[in-house]
Amino acid sequence: MRETLTGDTDLADFVRGMPKAELHLHIEGTLEPEMLFELAGRNGVELPFEDEAAVRAAYSFTDLQSFLDIYYQGAAVLQTTQDFYDLMAAYLRRAHADGVRRAEMFFDPQTHTERDVGFDVFMEGFTAAMADAEAQCGISSALIMCFLRHLPGEAACETFRAAEGWLDGIIGVGLDSSEVDHPPEDFAEAYAMARAAGLRPVAHAGEEGPPAYITGALDALGAERIDHGVRCTEDPDLVARLVAAQTPLTVCPLSNLALCVVDDLADHNLKRLLDAGLKVTINSDDPAYFGGYVADNYVAVATALGLSREELARCARNSLEACFAPAAQKQAWVAELDAYVG
Ligand code: ADE
Ligand code: ZN
Repeated sequence: MRETLTGDTDLADFVRGMPKAELHLHIEGTLEPEMLFELAGRNGVELPFEDEAAVRAAYSFTDLQSFLDIYYQGAAVLQTTQDFYDLMAAYLRRAHADGVRRAEMFFDPQTHTERDVGFDVFMEGFTAAMADAEAQCGISSALIMCFLRHLPGEAACETFRAAEGWLDGIIGVGLDSSEVDHPPEDFAEAYAMARAAGLRPVAHAGEEGPPAYITGALDALGAERIDHGVRCTEDPDLVARLVAAQTPLTVCPLSNLALCVVDDLADHNLKRLLDAGLKVTINSDDPAYFGGYVADNYVAVATALGLSREELARCARNSLEACFAPAAQKQAWVAELDAYVG
């Protein structure tokens, strides 16, 4: 039996049953059209779309910016603690069904604080849903606070100061939004403050931006993982450095396709990255907008590039090893994966 997009059912079942971590996921990017309308109705927000079908039709992007414009507009329906709880609960349910043992999720505080929705509102909603999901289905999760790079470095510093009462619930900091012309060096001060407070640094780099932004994320921000990083192959010295350090790359194939980073999934360099010895992980980025959650990404890329089950398991192992959970917990998940793949 064949299924659309996700290839054969055996492959989909194998992927869904495989223990994995999701390390590149924007929680605001999990806002499905159905919930968009539900929250707009609840909060009296007028949407520029007639119905869910019109929303889906608008999700046709030409580049990162064309997506971000719609994505920030959608986030405006998120207003109350209950809204953030519902968004988080729905994603964690979905991730659990995809075999995710650990989810490390980005959130964009500036997208909310600029609308006068404060840290208390979204942090209380997120953390309550995360605790309930762990109690109900055992999924482990953590939050990574992203700075918006189209805003100044000083705004990132102010955001970090505003988060200071909430750091117990935040494991790391990240850098997202429009990449080109917004180099990582602008955010060195905010990252220095975050690292001094014990937060783990990661950063988007080399999605649309040049390999120099990956080098900048490593050197100026101390990034421990690179989000996307697919343009690293344009600089062989950088590839050698990433291989030597085994710096994880959180690659998002369906995102790269939807945002025209690649024209065809068959052209994606994920297999070449793996073959080069890079620590590649597979993730969904903004699944409500890009047509697939994490298991869909594994299946789509396996189908397009002819990845073997061993290669898929290597990506899952990389994800578990690259997550920021305690070492003993990571070892237990890797052992579970080893037992699964035999
Ligand atoms: N925010 C949400 N998704 C993003 C992506 N893929 N790149 C940069 N910023 C983002
Ligand atoms: Zn992203």
